[in-house]
Amino acid sequence: MSYLLPLIKNADVKGKTVLLRLDLDVPIVQLKIQNSKSEIKIEDKERLESGLATIRYLTKHGAEIIIAGHLGRPEGKDENFSLRPVAKWFARKVGYSQIHPRKFGIFNGWRLTERISILENLRFFKGEERDDKQFSKELASLADVYINDAFAVSHRTHASIVGVPAILPHFAGIHFAEEVEILGNVLKRPKRPLIVIIGGAKLETKLPLVEKMHRFADYVLIGGKIARETRVLLKVAHEKIYPQAGRKRSVLLIADSNFNGTDISEKSVENFCQIVVLAKTIIWNGPMGIIKNSEFSPRGEAGRIQNSEDTEKGTRKLAKAITESKAYSIVGGGDTLAYLKKIDLLNKFDFCSMGGGAMLSFLAGEKMPGIEVLEK
Ligand code: 3PG
Repeated sequence: MSYLLPLIKNADVKGKTVLLRLDLDVPIVQLKIQNSKSEIKIEDKERLESGLATIRYLTKHGAEIIIAGHLGRPEGKDENFSLRPVAKWFARKVGYSQIHPRKFGIFNGWRLTERISILENLRFFKGEERDDKQFSKELASLADVYINDAFAVSHRTHASIVGVPAILPHFAGIHFAEEVEILGNVLKRPKRPLIVIIGGAKLETKLPLVEKMHRFADYVLIGGKIARETRVLLKVAHEKIYPQAGRKRSVLLIADSNFNGTDISEKSVENFCQIVVLAKTIIWNGPMGIIKNSEFSPRGEAGRIQNSEDTEKGTRKLAKAITESKAYSIVGGGDTLAYLKKIDLLNKFDFCSMGGGAMLSFLAGEKMPGIEVLEK
């Protein structure tokens, strides 16, 4: 599948207001400091940084920018999922230390500079995930042009991804276009053996993709929480290898868990690393065990683990093996990127996709609503 995206360089943005959909779904943590006070920290800024090229381009070409996005999976309005720390981060990036609360129609948000603002978490509204028509209209009414630079959400049929571009003139952001080009090339002409490694959570998104990857890749390695679930589904208790058969071109290897289910077993890590050595292309999304980024993480189970040393072993060993291999390596997904950055291995990967589920969906040849709508 090849996509012909409308590029930002063809957008007339001078004097216009642009609604810029960005990947703002980053790991935000609450660190305990002295006197039972706490401090909010963004653990990994990779996704936020991926939007900066488009912001600079729009600023240079005379546009007013309203940034929009989501954080986590809140049930309605929940301060733990506020984008305030992200707003402050962007304000600092554009040279200001203060953010100023501002209303935009039905939306709350903050003014960062005279010409750049940001909306509060769109998932505080039910209409976002339901792709509600009225909600899309409200959002679209804020701007003249829509630009999507949020590749990580391009597999979702949400209002800010498909509803708004159906109303406004629309274009792909700079990073978005790069993602589609690079991943598109891998999909068309992968250097084989191609190994796909899937871990982490978000089972409902990833499990259906395992079967599809089975046809595209030469080896599919499953670890993390999704391995446990896959074993339950297939009714196998321990590590299992499914050899190539029929239309399934790949060898599927489902990892075993360690004794308390918080990581994959040492034997499985060894087996995965032996396969990694054979690869010419490696695509990886999702940690093998529980990786702890902090005391509190609204994004998932990582925050509930007290002692993470043992639960991170599998992910760390695998990361090392991939970066030491000769293969072209692609890694994607917010938590995976954050962890690799923490252990100083992220810059050893050839390409970092902002998408976790989105990257896997794209490579599995799934329909990508956020990309298709831009082509119309
Ligand atoms: C991601 O982190 O993969 C994206 O932000 C999409 O998030 P979602 O799976 O909650 O829709």
